[in-house]
Amino acid sequence: MKTIIQKIDPENFQDEELDEACAILKNGGLVAFPTETVYGLGGDGLNPAASARIYAAKGRPSDNPLILHIASMDDLKEIAGEIPDGAYKLAESFWPGPMTMIFKKRESVPYETTGGLDTVAVRMPSHPVARELIRRSGVYIAAPSANLSGRPSPTKHEHVIEDLDGRIDMILASGPVGIGLESTIIDMSVPEPMLLRPGYITREMIESITGKIKVDPVVVSRTPLKDLKPKAPGMKYRHYAPRGDMEIIEGDEDQVVKKINSLTEECERKGIRAAVITTDENRDRYTCKNVYSVGARKTEGSIAAGVFDVLREMDHIGAQKIYAESFESDRLGMAIMNRMIKAAAYQIVDV
Ligand code: TXA
Ligand code: MG
Repeated sequence: MKTIIQKIDPENFQDEELDEACAILKNGGLVAFPTETVYGLGGDGLNPAASARIYAAKGRPSDNPLILHIASMDDLKEIAGEIPDGAYKLAESFWPGPMTMIFKKRESVPYETTGGLDTVAVRMPSHPVARELIRRSGVYIAAPSANLSGRPSPTKHEHVIEDLDGRIDMILASGPVGIGLESTIIDMSVPEPMLLRPGYITREMIESITGKIKVDPVVVSRTPLKDLKPKAPGMKYRHYAPRGDMEIIEGDEDQVVKKINSLTEECERKGIRAAVITTDENRDRYTCKNVYSVGARKTEGSIAAGVFDVLREMDHIGAQKIYAESFESDRLGMAIMNRMIKAAAYQIVDV
């Protein structure tokens, strides 16, 4: 399949520039588009055939449900069965924006989109291209992250092209996204709301609106929990992992630098290509040839935006061994560490 790659300037585009993308969506085709979190792979969420195409293009297991993207609260009422008061409050505070809520689904939403579940995940994105695409097409856009299943989520259109060129109808190329980590997911279909995936909207921010919430134990676990099934099916799959073997080195900062330097020097002696994932503050302290910074520790947001790009870079340079520093686990750090730990397949070394 030939994929149309269409440039759209997110800060200055004419709505008509989205007409072809809208026509593709209405006809059951697939369009990758920017959101403020990561690029999404969009299709008509109420059309079972379009959902099936999304799974095929990504190589995604069909029990892993999709998020429906909407443009207004009226849209929400069309697809969600019961909307508790707390959800209205959260929507008022964080929509449009990087938060997804789970609701009981209405009949209009096919099981092909929800992976067979009676619930549906819904998000109202704030990115101007995403908003206009939903509004103009009149389609509730089902969109997982626009990567091949298992790879890091795409934060630039180049990442989408790398994974999906030739597999979908169109890619809207709008440059890098702002946040760089997928949305926070909170389950509002149960009596006590539960955080299923940490993101830019932190637990602390949610609790300031709803009061105390639960957190799915798998989200913060530092060891694989064999007997625990994550509530968000997607959290159980191998994810984000670079091809090389990745370890997180944790402890006193000076000790961590020392340990990583000795590990990469050993790799060099053995002819193994090693790489280091660090931050702006520490990048000059490493002796390894391949040192990559995810951003500055003093601005967590820059780290969030840099993580997936650096993980992809590991494959581009063919890193066989990857040593990464660790991050705090509260606020936005919870989301960053959640992704890093999965990328490292839970290999964490204490020094
Ligand atoms: O920021 C985002 O959320 C991006 C952009 C494109 O909006 N989308 C995204 O979609 O990250 P995806 O498919 O990569 O991740 C969706 C996650 C998966 O872990 C999935 O299992 C979970 O949401 N999910 C979807 N529907 C669910 C449901 N009904 N119940 C529980 N988890 C659900
Ligand atoms: Mg994804």
